[in-house]
Amino acid sequence: MSSVCITGISRGIGLGFAEHYLKNGWDVYGSLRNPKNEAVQKLARTYEERLTVFQMDVSAYESVRRGAAEVRERTDHIDLLVNNAGINAGPNAPTIQEISHEKMHAAFDVNVMGPLYCVQEFLPLLERSDGAKVAMISSTAGSIGETAGGRMIPYCVSKSALNMLTKLLHFRLRDLDIPIVALHPGWVRTDMGGSNALVSVKESVEGMAEVIASQSADSPLYRDYRGEPLPW
Ligand SMILES: NC(=O)c1ccc[n+]([C@@H]2O[C@H](COP(=O)([O-])OP(=O)(O)OC[C@H]3O[C@@H](n4cnc5c(N)ncnc54)[C@H](OP(=O)(O)O)[C@@H]3O)[C@@H](O)[C@H]2O)c1
Repeated sequence: MSSVCITGISRGIGLGFAEHYLKNGWDVYGSLRNPKNEAVQKLARTYEERLTVFQMDVSAYESVRRGAAEVRERTDHIDLLVNNAGINAGPNAPTIQEISHEKMHAAFDVNVMGPLYCVQEFLPLLERSDGAKVAMISSTAGSIGETAGGRMIPYCVSKSALNMLTKLLHFRLRDLDIPIVALHPGWVRTDMGGSNALVSVKESVEGMAEVIASQSADSPLYRDYRGEPLPW
């Protein structure tokens, strides 16, 4: 039986990942911030045995350390870490003066430090798996080559940093036989993506799960949910 740890399963793509892997027979360790989440409680009733929910704020190192310790009490290994939790700390089209210290820090704390803390703290569990992998949920918003405008500046800059972090971790994790990939989920209908987005959570998650399953140390490191390589 395979096991996955997913950050931010309260809603959107994270909830979709949890449902997908549970349906496919995996053990799921899912983090959320508010345990009184109805969608997750419903999932827990259906998959009582295989879903472990734990509280974790990815932007706070102590919280990640406690979360990983809680997971270690339940299992001696995990096969996949999905760093999904993220924020888009607007405004959407800021003036230069509106790019505040607070918004930049908020984006970096959740979108960059969060995934780094999680890799650090969950690595001992990944190392005990036969064939572990790490997925960083990034965005084309982080592609320097593709960017065409000045929108969502804290978000875009933090996702570029996440991409660099992914590439740098790749060199370390390669020695441990742990492939890592930065994934663009598509423009997905969630709270973050909005109702006009083009891709359903199900389509995005199924696509990304296939890409993750095929990811090896030699695969492209930055890909979309259909497996297409993206320009950094
Ligand atoms: N939707 C899109 O079109 C799109 C496109 C490109 C990339 N992405 C990326 O895909 C990922 C998921 O996005 P989504 O669309 O599902 O967003 P979403 O609907 O806004 O959900 C975000 C998730 O992240 C969690 N989260 C936020 N801050 C957190 C923190 N400090 N600690 C722990 N969890 C935290 C939220 O938990 P709470 O419920 O507690 O807030 C929620 O579960 C993100 O990394 C996002 O950047 C999305």
